[in-house]
Amino acid sequence: MLGCDGSILLNDTANNERDVIFNKNSARGYELIDNAKTEVEKICPGVVSCADILAVAARDASVAVSGPSWTVKLGRRDSTTPYPDVALSDLPRFTESLPELIARFEHKGLSERDMVALSGSHSIGQAQCFTFRDRIYNGGDIDAGFASTRRRGCPVSSGDSKLAPLELVTPNQLDNNYFKNLLQKKGLLQSDQVLFSGGSTDSIVSEYSRNPSKFLSDFASAMVKMGDIEPLTGSAGQIRRICHAVN
Ligand code: HEM
Repeated sequence: MLGCDGSILLNDTANNERDVIFNKNSARGYELIDNAKTEVEKICPGVVSCADILAVAARDASVAVSGPSWTVKLGRRDSTTPYPDVALSDLPRFTESLPELIARFEHKGLSERDMVALSGSHSIGQAQCFTFRDRIYNGGDIDAGFASTRRRGCPVSSGDSKLAPLELVTPNQLDNNYFKNLLQKKGLLQSDQVLFSGGSTDSIVSEYSRNPSKFLSDFASAMVKMGDIEPLTGSAGQIRRICHAVN
């Protein structure tokens, strides 16, 4: 993980990004990308990178859950190695404070507004109990009823991998309910709630909670911007033949 170069897809060596603690049992669906690549190779071999396929799949996934569409810039090339050490050191953590999260996104050229918009993807999907246990048992900045509901599905000292939806109202739709929940202190992860906890991003969260179309258009722009992070172009990297292994 240096940039948008498909390095997370590799699993041909023991030292890969998929198994880094923040990705393991979290990032998933790799076989979909492998299957898409197989189909593309049948029609047009050696041309379309796995990094591009991943970027297109992210856009199509957004559309599939009622989120926005955008034009995906194409022409990325694939990395020839995974970067597990960088994934470990650079990925944001669910325990981090707002200034720490801001610094991480800034390090990749993404603004506070980009960060808040992108966090809106937690409007879909699920999280494992170990990622929100501390917040629901010890957190101060949380709705009491919400905490007690979530405690029922996430025991205090077992069930690490039990799942809860990241967004409780419309968990399968990419919409602004995530932000409405934050206003009610019903963010599941600490890293969600810190976006609305008296800091500099409060105003952006409020804006998105009131203005769903602004959220969707900012989300689309931020996804394009994220896809522009350090791509490999020209003769750098390669076009992999299969997405989970280097040529
Ligand atoms: C602000 C920094 C972020 C932190 C700390 C963070 C952390 C997490 C954590 C802890 C989970 C639960 C994983 C698990 O329990 O297995 C999760 C899930 C998820 N995250 Fe993030 N995330 C962040 C930003 C993002 C961004 C920028 C995106 C994409 C634009 C994203 C997309 C997702 C999705 C889609 C899921 C659900 C996965 C599933 O259901 O399998 N997150 N995130």
